[in-house]
Amino acid sequence: MSTKRVLTGVTTTGIPHLGNYVGAIRPAIRASRSDDTESFLFLADYHGIIKCHDPALIHESTQAVAATWLACGLDPERTTFYRQSDIPEILELNWILTCITAKGLMNRAHAYKAAVQDNLDKGQEDQDHQIEMGLYSYPILMTADILMFNAHDVPVGRDQIQHVEMARDIAGRFNHRFEELFTLPEAKIDDQVETLVGLDGRKMSKSYGNTIPLWENDKKTQKSVNKIITNLKEPGEAKFPGESPLFEIYQAFASAEESAAFTQMLAEGLAWGEAKKMLAAKINQELAEPRERYQELTARPDRIEEILQAGAAKARREARPLLDKVRAAVGIRALT
Ligand code: ADP
Ligand code: TRP
Repeated sequence: MSTKRVLTGVTTTGIPHLGNYVGAIRPAIRASRSDDTESFLFLADYHGIIKCHDPALIHESTQAVAATWLACGLDPERTTFYRQSDIPEILELNWILTCITAKGLMNRAHAYKAAVQDNLDKGQEDQDHQIEMGLYSYPILMTADILMFNAHDVPVGRDQIQHVEMARDIAGRFNHRFEELFTLPEAKIDDQVETLVGLDGRKMSKSYGNTIPLWENDKKTQKSVNKIITNLKEPGEAKFPGESPLFEIYQAFASAEESAAFTQMLAEGLAWGEAKKMLAAKINQELAEPRERYQELTARPDRIEEILQAGAAKARREARPLLDKVRAAVGIRALT
């Protein structure tokens, strides 16, 4: 059976919430269990320091994100799981790729264009005011992440498609100019992946402050769920989807039958308060075991570190030989 190589990175800023779990973590872990894929998953901490300049937060969220994936069932035996900064080959490749990347290509990157637009909107004379090279060159580092392991499929959110296309472009340019060493990657967008709504009905996101944290205890989860907006309908009055994000959030944690029964009960007058109890119970039930594992892991950061080091060793066994070929292809090799 031919195996497909799938790779994705997770930026290490912020503590994971239910939206990350439903939209990214849960589906990726399910996919990694399939036999016809060889999967690579890494903590993109060098990407993390582009936007976040708080060392404590970078460090804390690297641990939290690693513990999250492991607690949610990522099997480090099946998936090569590593921290980007443990693979120096990625940064070496990053420079070689920087030397063949057209500046014009980077000028077109969405994140950079948005920052420039922001300056123009604010009437800044210098359109590059306060824009750092990390942000500008971000797509090249992402390209190095992908090409270093010759990944074919790159599952990402829609906002990242452009970066994967740039990686494809840069790989093609290298192959053409020097030697056919790189696989041309493809972005994989899963249209089935759910977008979870937050407490206020907008997409759940840390930037909106409407999240339900993943790693709280049952009581705190109930408190967060209690903040989901509803209307003023009394117990006994019929309540319908569209009147509260409760319905959609419930769906993300229940089977189709359970969701239908929940909708039915609300239509028959179930009180919002009771519905919130049912939702919190559902979330707490699904997360009970992962939460236990998360606590255990967080209490043993040395254990997480060990897993990451083993992953890095595995990843470097792949990266080093390819990087040697890349260096030789551009003319960097021993004299004799
Ligand atoms: P945030 O919007 O909170 O900053 P990120 O941009 O860090 O979240 O997202 C990390 C991952 O989680 C991405 O793969 C993203 O698609 C997914 N994700 C984030 N919020 C949601 C959501 N509300 N529903 C589904 N997936 C989400
Ligand atoms: N830039 C991606 C994001 O913000 C994270 C990332 C870094 C990534 N390197 C990658 C994703 C390589 C896929 C492949 O979501």
